[in-house]
Amino acid sequence: MLSVKNLSKSFDGNTILREISLDVAAGETTVILGPSGSGKSTLLRCLNLLETPELGQLSIEGDTVDFGTDLTDEQVRTIRQHSAMVFQNFNLFPHLTAQQNVALAPVLNGKKSKAEAKKLAGQLLAKVGLEHKADAYPDNLSGGQQQRVAIARALAVAPDYLLFDEPTSALDPELEAEVIQVLMGLAAEKRSLVVVTHNMAFARRVADRIIFLDGGTVAYNGAPAGFFASDHARIQRFLQIFEMTDYKI
Ligand SMILES: Nc1ncnc2c1ncn2[C@@H]1O[C@H](COP(=O)(O)OP(=O)(O)O)[C@@H](O)[C@H]1O
Ligand SMILES: [Mg+2]
Repeated sequence: MLSVKNLSKSFDGNTILREISLDVAAGETTVILGPSGSGKSTLLRCLNLLETPELGQLSIEGDTVDFGTDLTDEQVRTIRQHSAMVFQNFNLFPHLTAQQNVALAPVLNGKKSKAEAKKLAGQLLAKVGLEHKADAYPDNLSGGQQQRVAIARALAVAPDYLLFDEPTSALDPELEAEVIQVLMGLAAEKRSLVVVTHNMAFARRVADRIIFLDGGTVAYNGAPAGFFASDHARIQRFLQIFEMTDYKI
């Protein structure tokens, strides 16, 4: 279980997240939706302490931190080891091959020998359909392939929760589909996924739970069916945008 209580985060005096409370169950796919600027990325970044909230509490798999006082390096490490993040722009190391990108973290964190990490990287690249690209550098991979390497890299640290921040927003529809397929495979395996996305088909078909952020607060938290049928004005306005696109389903 990942649990956030009364979490508040501001930048330069502007409150971006306002006393957010929510639970993310292990083994589920939680999709975070919301207009641009509503705080989705900030919330995701708070979950692995890339941002530090001013107030509130975060618990992941029984490890808890209270914000408002300085966190120790040990607390930060403990919380971070529970999750791995996949970013919109892949963020692969350009000077490393696909396999080296995937193998790096397990070696650096001391969990695997070089040989073990290399073997694991091969297995994870196969899992995302890229065993034939193990020796390719990011520059020689398509965006969809780079993102699949990034997903393999996230899996390599065996995180309890995988955090995705708009993983397909930088991709053409065809490449988006290949990344969505990988995400659907992870969801089918009952991995714990937290996915910020604008892909409404994914949200509707794959999410176990939808969290809709608006103005730094949780405006919806529940099943997809209830979200897509909501008569809440803010949610209807948001959905109307997508009804004018190919995502109409
Ligand atoms: N590091 C930062 N410094 C100052 N303002 C920030 C920073 N990160 C995000 N913001 C602001 O916080 C708000 C929410 O941003 P973000 O979490 O990126 O929203 P979303 O991902 O939903 O589009 C925006 O107004 C953004 O400008
Ligand atoms: Mg964002």
